[in-house]
Amino acid sequence: MKKVLTFGASSSRKSINKQLAYWAGEQVGEEHIHIDLNDFEMPIFSVDRERENGIPDHAKRFKKLLEDADGVIISFAEHNGAYTAAFKNVFDWMSRLGSPRWSDKPMFLMSTSPGGRGGKNVLGIALNSFPHQGGNVVASFSLPKFGENFDNGITDTELKKAFDVQVDTFKSAL
Ligand SMILES: Cc1cc2nc3c(=O)[nH]c(=O)nc-3n(C[C@H](O)[C@H](O)[C@H](O)COP(=O)(O)O)c2cc1C
Repeated sequence: MKKVLTFGASSSRKSINKQLAYWAGEQVGEEHIHIDLNDFEMPIFSVDRERENGIPDHAKRFKKLLEDADGVIISFAEHNGAYTAAFKNVFDWMSRLGSPRWSDKPMFLMSTSPGGRGGKNVLGIALNSFPHQGGNVVASFSLPKFGENFDNGITDTELKKAFDVQVDTFKSAL
């Protein structure tokens, strides 16, 4: 079986993006490895900390999980129009372990929020930048109004259809 690494790019314990990413991972029909960014908490990245103390083990563990996976699903929480600090910190530390930063893995990038834009700003940032950061982005999906459209799965028929197209594309890239 293929291994699919899934996580929500959020440190909220009840993260809606974590819920969406984990559920999406389950729709792929392969082995899924759900991780939680709270298990990778590190000091805020700085070049001085790196020089003085080296790269934390959590960053190395994160990179190893990435390298061992056949594909990656991330759902991004949007904080002030951009990545959460929790995600950016893991990414910054992990990026110091060399290129390609996302290990050339097929990626399905998503976002959701309680509002009608569904985290489209942060998803746009990731979709623009990941292909230049070693991410082989093959699929994307944004879910608006999580509270109305998700209940143990996507409840809106049209949104579910759109999601299914993306998940099929991701599956065939694994
Ligand atoms: C500090 C902060 C900033 C936020 N900024 C945005 C934003 O720019 N756009 C947005 O759609 N929602 C924003 N929200 C609301 C989040 O979309 C909402 O908290 C969502 O649940 C975050 O996803 P999560 O549950 O996966 O952490 C913000 C929330 C917080 C706490």
